[in-house]
Amino acid sequence: MAADTELRELAPPAFTHAVPALLEVYAAAMRPPPAQLPGRAAVMGSHAAYPGFRSVVALNDEQPVGFAYAFHGRAGQWWHDVVTEGLRDRGRSRHVRRYLTDPLEIAEVHVHPDAQNRGIGRSLLHALCSGRPERTAVLSTRTGPSAARHLYRSCGFVEVLESFSFPGTPDQPFSIMAARLPLVGPGDRRSRDRSAWWPWTGSR
Ligand SMILES: CC(C)(COP(=O)(O)OP(=O)(O)OC[C@H]1O[C@@H](n2cnc3c(N)ncnc32)[C@H](O)[C@@H]1OP(=O)(O)O)[C@@H](O)C(=O)NCCC(=O)NCCS
Repeated sequence: MAADTELRELAPPAFTHAVPALLEVYAAAMRPPPAQLPGRAAVMGSHAAYPGFRSVVALNDEQPVGFAYAFHGRAGQWWHDVVTEGLRDRGRSRHVRRYLTDPLEIAEVHVHPDAQNRGIGRSLLHALCSGRPERTAVLSTRTGPSAARHLYRSCGFVEVLESFSFPGTPDQPFSIMAARLPLVGPGDRRSRDRSAWWPWTGSR
């Protein structure tokens, strides 16, 4: 990761405060229909209250250029329940037992297009998962080849469900991916032989 980029953990109140700025990164990275952004902001704000919430922000000159967040997944949460049912419907209950009994649910990982392909996404992902008590990490990503999928696979994620449609978005197939924790591979592709460094400023 570039030397002028700093990773910082934001405790839930600081994350909630930062949602408008993080939403700009999200909008640039994902290019969603603008009408979806208020709903996304509301979801992000509500996730900050979930158990085990952790967020990590990448800053250049104090400006967010990337962010990632996750929380402890459990029954009763929308994503957890929908994916559990999807796996069971396809006869993959063993994946439910293996990956969804004690998961870190990774909700968002985004880097602004101007800052992509410099190691920030990889550093964010490793920082998010570092030292977590959960056994596994789980996430969903768009089906098909992408930088995101390449990144996740290189960290040990495997596809447990392909071409999965979430309720309300039948035309957007997703892959559900899962990994054992700790993640594999280096957290910083530009300094593979050095230990990972990042300032830890928030609380869990
Ligand atoms: C996915 C994403 C977070 C990765 O962040 P990043 O900072 O660009 O990624 P990194 O620089 O750490 O690179 C991670 C890997 O992806 C690869 N990669 C990054 N950008 C790429 C691109 N445009 N094309 C192909 N590969 C790319 C890198 O080569 C790297 O692999 P390597 O270490 O084997 O070389 C970022 O591309 C992004 O925000 N994409 C749009 C939003 C998105 O898809 N988010 C994920 C939703 S699940």
